[in-house]
Amino acid sequence: MPLDDYSVVNLLHEELVLFVCATTGQGDPPENMKMFWKFIMRKNLPNNSLMKMKFAVLGLGDSSYQKFNFIAKKLYKRLVQLGAEGLQSVGLADDQHDLGADAVIYPWMRDLWQNVLSLYPLPPGQEIIPADVKPPPRYKVEINPAEDRVPGVSSSESNGISQYGKNCPFHAPLISNERLTSDDHWQDVRLIRLDVRGSGIKYDPGDVVMIQPQNSEDSVQEFLTLMKLDPQQRFTLQQNDPNIPLPSQLPQPCSVHHLVQHYLDINSVPRRSFFEFMALFSTNELEKEKLQEFCTPEGQEELYSYCNRVKRSILEVLQDFPHTSSWLPFEYLFDVIPQLQPRAFSIASSQVVHPDEIQILMAVVEYKTRLQKPRRGVCSTWLSRLKVAERPVVPLWVKKGTIVFPKEAVTPVIMVGPGTGVAPFRSFIQERSTAPSSRNILFFGCRNRDKDFLCKEEWESAVNKGYLELYTAFSRDQEEKVYVHHVMSDKGALLWKLLEEEKAWFFIAGNAKQMPDDVKSALHNIIQQHGHMTSAEADSYIHRLEQTRRFQAETWS
Ligand code: 2AM
Repeated sequence: MPLDDYSVVNLLHEELVLFVCATTGQGDPPENMKMFWKFIMRKNLPNNSLMKMKFAVLGLGDSSYQKFNFIAKKLYKRLVQLGAEGLQSVGLADDQHDLGADAVIYPWMRDLWQNVLSLYPLPPGQEIIPADVKPPPRYKVEINPAEDRVPGVSSSESNGISQYGKNCPFHAPLISNERLTSDDHWQDVRLIRLDVRGSGIKYDPGDVVMIQPQNSEDSVQEFLTLMKLDPQQRFTLQQNDPNIPLPSQLPQPCSVHHLVQHYLDINSVPRRSFFEFMALFSTNELEKEKLQEFCTPEGQEELYSYCNRVKRSILEVLQDFPHTSSWLPFEYLFDVIPQLQPRAFSIASSQVVHPDEIQILMAVVEYKTRLQKPRRGVCSTWLSRLKVAERPVVPLWVKKGTIVFPKEAVTPVIMVGPGTGVAPFRSFIQERSTAPSSRNILFFGCRNRDKDFLCKEEWESAVNKGYLELYTAFSRDQEEKVYVHHVMSDKGALLWKLLEEEKAWFFIAGNAKQMPDDVKSALHNIIQQHGHMTSAEADSYIHRLEQTRRFQAETWS
């Protein structure tokens, strides 16, 4: 369960706990762990308070960040300090290698089960279910149910004001969907405006909107044909295991078409467990053999090349194993195919200026691999194809973001947001346009002034009205690359003065590859040069900024 949903005082009585935790931002705990983190880090907790507990920690991190899996490592140390006993060393999964499922997570889980079983041996006569026995399906499925509605299960329609979430999103009508980049630009970036009138949804600059996407109709149709499913068929679900709740975002009864369109992530890259399941069900000798091979330790290299390297989708894998796919029992779909996940977007509008709207700036994800068909992001492709005339609605809810802007109008703010990284800053700048405030300084970068200068007119108008100072870097308008951090260095004296004398806050948002590091090191050099410091002194200056939230970054890949 999410850590913040757990009543933390119970920890004192737990005997065995598995923590799975990510590290976000600059080595921060994830949003749903913040209260827990505060509690566990309290200095006045006695050192033997967790004497009863044995635990393991699996960290989810990204080694391109300096503080790789920082929270998992720190949690481990802290629990040991409080008297708990670690069963094994911290698992360090790495997003740079698809979380190292095979190199890290599987071996780590194997060790974990061994450790757990030696602590809690199975009662005599009981055995672990061997890998070639079919487990019971996750849910009981009734096809063509007699009654029209099963009581006690909520439908997918929203019915509460303040509790919008995954199980109960608000369905926001589309107001507009506008391409912001020129037609001849390589990337399609959109400004999408959604109507949240009457929802009661409130948000601040820095907050994030979660959008529940759907699969494109052509992929839904392909899937239905391949699996020999009738899209009109209706079914209801019942629990098979009291510990596994029903998916409350599905209506009851539900049509097969609805299930495939809204719930099954048929375009994701399959995990190894997908092949394990398929191998269990295959009755075709050749296919079964291949599927089994993909599940062996020796088959891992080949599985990686077949799936992850080229980003092959579940749908495409099913096409490669047609005999197995068309025989997969319907009730096992919920076990075999993962759930379509919501996507997070930084909100790009201010509610003070647009009380009834949520706007996002979104790059449509499309890229090529060795496979012939281009790879397309499910959510961005779906959103980019929505047409106002067809009156589509977008299921959404709002979450606190990692960026928090200063409340005081007297605080100057420096924002570095190339590309769609400018989204949260657009929200903040709009908000600050409504009342007198201190300086708002934006460093924006893109490839060409005439092609992907997002929201150009809006920035120009803000500059003219006097509430924005804008510095731009057009990387490809001249021979030599010019990036935001180059322009920052030119403005070094100004930035130093704002930080040191006027206690400005500094923000970075955007693509996580190289940009955030480059910007941070430019800032480091500015502080060192203009503050007359050594490199180590500049480091600790930035560290102090981070600790007081005057340096924040929100980056994504
Ligand atoms: P490029 O695509 O020409 O390399 C928005 O994506 C802008 O950020 C583009 O102009 C892109 O330039 C630029 N960019 C790429 N890498 C960067 C980096 N490490 N630091 C700053 N800007 C970068």
